[in-house]
Amino acid sequence: MSFTYHDGTRALNGVNLSIEKNESVAILGKNGAGKSTLLLTLPGLIMGEGHIAIAGIELTEKSVRAVRKKIGIVFQNPEDQLFCPTVYEDVAFGPNNMGLSKEEVERRVTGAISAMGLSGFEKRSAHHLSHGEKKRAAIATILSMKPDIVAFDEPTANLDPEGVHDLKRVINSIEKTKLIITHNIDLALDLATRGIVMDKGKIVADMPIDELLSDKKLLKDLKLYFD
Ligand SMILES: Nc1ncnc2c1ncn2[C@@H]1O[C@H](COP(=O)(O)OP(=O)(O)OP(=O)(O)O)[C@@H](O)[C@H]1O
Ligand SMILES: [Mg+2]
Repeated sequence: MSFTYHDGTRALNGVNLSIEKNESVAILGKNGAGKSTLLLTLPGLIMGEGHIAIAGIELTEKSVRAVRKKIGIVFQNPEDQLFCPTVYEDVAFGPNNMGLSKEEVERRVTGAISAMGLSGFEKRSAHHLSHGEKKRAAIATILSMKPDIVAFDEPTANLDPEGVHDLKRVINSIEKTKLIITHNIDLALDLATRGIVMDKGKIVADMPIDELLSDKKLLKDLKLYFD
């Protein structure tokens, strides 16, 4: 997969990777490495050159809707995913657009809200939640669509230590294929079993996370840091 932005920036340059069902994979790399761009290509939010298949479906203009049901992205800024008057409506938004019965929508919304520890928050406005609560609400909006794969872009950015702890627990409780973008190696160790390191739009390492952790030279070269 390769991708060049309109201004000529080549953000992805021949990225080739394959992720197994139920794997938890951390995507690491310094600022500008191409991590977020890679994430945007997966559900076809941007179209690069190359070939993508998600849960066995080839990504094409025709299949893009089907592909988007299989992969959910939790963006770095939860405000990007919370735009309804209440948390309940935010979490119901996806399922309502999937043509599900009212009962099924209700079941999914209640399930996702409870899984994210937000029972009792249904009628609150997401805009008045704490950042950690917003993050969990944003994850609930994805879980209610029951994707096979959930991808997180810098999930713990701007959270305090308790918020980080909370979010790690929440992410670890999600039993799906997970992609976690971070430049924090500790987070990668806690959430993933495999680490993929990107640099300048390419994959420069792909190995079990504990092996990555012991490669001090690689970590230093790529400016990956510990808490
Ligand atoms: N909308 C855009 N238009 C032009 N160039 C872009 C755009 N978005 C990103 N880029 C460029 O593409 C490259 C990869 O950016 P990307 O956001 O994917 O990196 P990243 O690894 O997610 O970085 P960070 O850790 O800072 O989030 C960078 O050189 C960046 O400047
Ligand atoms: Mg990014």
